[in-house]
Formats: sequence, C-alpha cells, structure tokens
Amino acid sequence: MIQLVRGFKDILPPESSVWQYIENTAKQHFENFGFKEMRPPVLEQTELFKRSIGEHTDIVEKEMYTFAGSKDTMLTLRPEATASVVRAYIQHKLYAADPVCKFYTIGPMFRKERPQKGRYRQFHQINAEVFGVDSPYIDAQLVFMLMRFFERLSIGGLSAHLNSLGCPACRPAFRKDLAEMLAGHSDKLCEDCVRRLDKNPMRVLDCKVPSCREVVADAPSMLDYLCEDCALHFKAVQQILDKLEIAYEIDPGLVRGLDYYTRTAFEIQTEELGAQNAVAGGGRYDNLVEMLGGPAQPAIGFAVGVDRLVELVSAKFPAYDSGPQVFILPMGDQAMEMGAQFACLLADAGVITEADFSGRSLKALMRRADRMGAENVLIIGEQEISDNAALLRNMKTRHQQSIPMDRLVETIRAEFDG
Ligand code: HAM
Repeated sequence: MIQLVRGFKDILPPESSVWQYIENTAKQHFENFGFKEMRPPVLEQTELFKRSIGEHTDIVEKEMYTFAGSKDTMLTLRPEATASVVRAYIQHKLYAADPVCKFYTIGPMFRKERPQKGRYRQFHQINAEVFGVDSPYIDAQLVFMLMRFFERLSIGGLSAHLNSLGCPACRPAFRKDLAEMLAGHSDKLCEDCVRRLDKNPMRVLDCKVPSCREVVADAPSMLDYLCEDCALHFKAVQQILDKLEIAYEIDPGLVRGLDYYTRTAFEIQTEELGAQNAVAGGGRYDNLVEMLGGPAQPAIGFAVGVDRLVELVSAKFPAYDSGPQVFILPMGDQAMEMGAQFACLLADAGVITEADFSGRSLKALMRRADRMGAENVLIIGEQEISDNAALLRNMKTRHQQSIPMDRLVETIRAEFDG
C-alpha cells in the first residue's frame, strides 16, 4: 500500500474543523486590523529564497525542496511566505496604489527538516505583512494583534519574546565582536556552529546544543550595540506595548532563522509543546523590498505556525463532528427517489442534510443516525407516501411531526431558521 511521505500528514475530519475554526478566526481578526488576503503560489524561483532568507541559513543550505524547471531555472516549494509576498508586492507595484499595504496569507510551507512532534515537512502558516510603515507603532500593533488572536482562541500560557537585531549601521560591530568571542571558544561549539562562525555567527546564539548554550551565556548582547535610531525605535515599541498592557520579555538571544530581519524581532512561545515551542515568529525587514529590486519601503510581519496552534486548541476543545440536521431515511424504491430529491433540495436550502440509500431496515438506519449524531430523521416509507407527508422525528426529544411533502422544504427550513 502506498503510504504518506514522511514528514507530511493528512488533515482529516473531525480535526479539520479545528483548522477551519482557527483560519476563520484569523481572517476575521486580521481583517479588523485592515489586512487583506493575498494568495501567492507555492512554487517560486529558487533565487527568490536564496536572496531573501539568506544563502547561509539552515533553510536555504539544507531544507528546501528544489528541482529543475524549464530553461535552466531552479524552482523551490516555498519554505516560507514572506519572500513571495514581497515578490508579488514589487512585481504588481502594489505600493503605487497606496503607500501602506497590509496582507495576510494562509497556506502550506515546505521545509526538509528532521520530522518530530510539532515539526513537519509540510506545515501551515498564517502570515501577516505590513509595507510602508517605519513607525514603531506598527511593531507594537502587530504583537498586540497576535496576542489578542491567541486570546480569541482561548489559548493561555503564551509569552511574547522581543529583541532588536539592529540595522546595517550598528549590526556589523556586534557581529564582529560576537564572532571574535565565539572563535575563542570554538573547541566547545558543535560542528554546525563552527561552520556558522564565519558566515552567520548570530545563528550560534540560537543553537540548542548544551555546550553551545554555555558559550553563548557570556556572549555580547546586540542591545548594547544599537545605534541611537534603533535604540529609540525599540524603546518606543516597548512603551506602546506597556500602554496596551501586553506583557513581553526582552530576549537578547532571540535571533530568528532568516537573514532578512532588522530591528524588532519577536516570537510567541508556549511551554505546552515541548522542544518546538514557538507558535509564531516575525519581525521587521526594512531592507528586503529594496534588496529584491523594489522601492525602499520598510516592512514588518509575522507567521503563526498553524499545526502547533491546532495542537494547543485541540487540547482545550477536542474536535468533534457535528451530525446532520436532517437525516433522510427512505424505505422502498418510490421513497428512495423522493428522498434523493429532498436530500438535494434541503441541502440547497441551507439545511445540513444526509440521506441513506442502502435500503437497510429502519432499525439499522436509526442506529446509524444515532451514531452520526443526527438531530432529526426524516422517515419516508409506504405509509408516508400514501399520506403524501413525511415524518420528521427529533432524535433527542423524540417529538414527531408529519410534514406535507409539497411544503416540506419550506417547513423544515423555517424550523431551523427560527
Ligand atoms: P519562522 O520562525 O521560520 O518564520 O516560522 C514561523 C512559525 O512557523 C514558527 O514559529 C512555527 O510555529 C512554524 N513553523 C516553522 N517551521 C515549522 C515546521 N517545520 N513545522 C511546523 N511548524 C513550523 C517565518 O517563516 C517568517 N517568514 C515569519 C515572518 C513573516 N517574518 C516576517 N514576516
């Protein structure tokens, strides 16, 4: 039997109802904050991710699903959405319509990571991206929006972690001092970190290997290197969050795994998911639009990991399948034909309808109705056909009523509207 690809998964009912609940809540919530949906494709030119995420990140070095396209172009299944949103923003000159653009996207991402709990090779993100605002107010607003989104889903126990990664004016000095300090302890660093020393020393701050964590404990902090503008920006973000009564922790070790970040970076973490504890992450990327060939436009955004969120929500509200409002049980050939018509007409009228055409006994069908959690059964047998009225029976109260066939759809629909 052909099985699922490792690291990929099927999202089946009833769990899919939790996904729908989360996605619908996000749409409504984000639209309240002025975001509009964008749906970029899942496939892009590899170059886009190399140039935005960074050549020396784990994602680009070892996690992308890349293959040859036509005419020498290499194509990659998107490992994240930000690069695609930026590409679309530039390609369609979306900045021309209004200086400020806000988009959200919902969909699958692909990274060839080692699969484990909370880490998949196809996973899903809800992204929000804002272009054209350099004010720290928008940084704070995004963190606020995100924390309120989790509250709407009744998820507690989350903490917001904030850092500033500086800008091209102040980061190089920090990078240099950090690299020098780390090089002095390279014998204690893991193989990956030794490799990172040269190309991307900031990633060492994020390494989970205990000996690397020990070295990093004495590392310099980017916050001590911020230039005046970056320091003022970061201070303002914190002041606004204080006013909005959003709790946060300053975490100088928070570096994020993508190279495009500048200034504010943040992550929302939970203690309930084990090692993969980030349910959302994001930050400013003020230089990316220009780097990819667009106008100089500041930008900021985040992505929520939906798979991890589903785990948290499911632990609180176990997913369930709601049964049909009306389950039609036709007995006999003539009734079958009638049942088939009513099944279509009722569903089309907005009543959640199921029908059973197996021809099994009423007793067997009633058992199935019960198992499915049907609210009502609509029995159409010989007697009902000769009376020209079907029998609607409430499965809970056992109340029964006879409904004339010629007014059946309106009568039942009115019943559920009221
Ligand atoms: P990221 O931190 O790589 O950021 O991913 C964001 C979230 O996606 C993570 O916090 C996590 O919840 C989820 N996630 C990442 N990888 C996996 C995986 N393999 N399995 C399950 N969940 C995963 C970004 O992707 C940036 N594009 C976020 C951003 C948007 N920054 C600015 N705008």
